Amino acid sequence: MTDLIANIIPEKIPQHIAIIMDGNGRWANERGENRLFGHSEGVESVRSSIKTAKELGIKFLTLYAFSTENWSRPQDEIDGLMDLLVASIMKEAPELMENGVRILMIGDIEGLPENCAKSLKNLIIETQDNTSLTLILALNYSAKWELKMAIKSIAHAVNNGTLTTNEITDDLVSKHLSTKGIPDPELLIRTSGERRISNFLLWQIAYAELYFTDTHWPDFRRNDLISAVIEYQNRERRFGKLSIQLEAKK
Ligand code: IPE
Ligand code: IPE
Ligand code: MG
Repeated sequence: MTDLIANIIPEKIPQHIAIIMDGNGRWANERGENRLFGHSEGVESVRSSIKTAKELGIKFLTLYAFSTENWSRPQDEIDGLMDLLVASIMKEAPELMENGVRILMIGDIEGLPENCAKSLKNLIIETQDNTSLTLILALNYSAKWELKMAIKSIAHAVNNGTLTTNEITDDLVSKHLSTKGIPDPELLIRTSGERRISNFLLWQIAYAELYFTDTHWPDFRRNDLISAVIEYQNRERRFGKLSIQLEAKK
């Protein structure tokens, strides 16, 4: 397959791409393997996405790796996923450092098994000064959890008199989310054919371009990410205006 990178418009690179990595289980089932095999193959797609994002000059990449709803899966799959997380952190840390990747986490870290939380915290500290790409891992995350926490903290500030209701702006709400300081994703990708958000970044994707592909996550590699960016670059983002108004500004 020819490399698609020549079709990229360098002036229109999104700052932030978020991905719902879906289809590991189906990918494995289609090969007569167990679901965990699909998850570990998915790690290779994570590596490839990080590399490609960096190459394209994308500054923020958010990956949905484990939702609060995923605790309802069979225990052996949950255990396997958590072990894979720890093993991947150990294995990938040197390369992440070499590539200047900063790791952040969104989600309830305290709800993760202790060894996962510990290795994640260490990785976050180790990579905190890296500047080439910020990789945000959404783990034990759900948008409703995040919004509920934000509403509680805003309500608390109003109650104790440090905030008035008039001061509650879009910007203030953003500052109470776990993505504080991170620009909203311009592009949201979901692999494997489902066309839903599954409790991912609800506030932050208010104006994101949505991109759905039937490709299962373990098959989603460099050219797939580049294709998604090319499609994004060809969409007209109007933000409520008319096409003609956008034309006039060009
Ligand atoms: C995505 O793949 C990874 C996680 C949700 C952890 P799935 O495990 O959801 O795979 P499918 O959707 O069952 O194929
Ligand atoms: C969404 O995938 C969560 C992650 C990718 C981590 P799921 O496979 O859990 O979502 P549903 O159950 O199909 O909505
Ligand atoms: Mg799934």
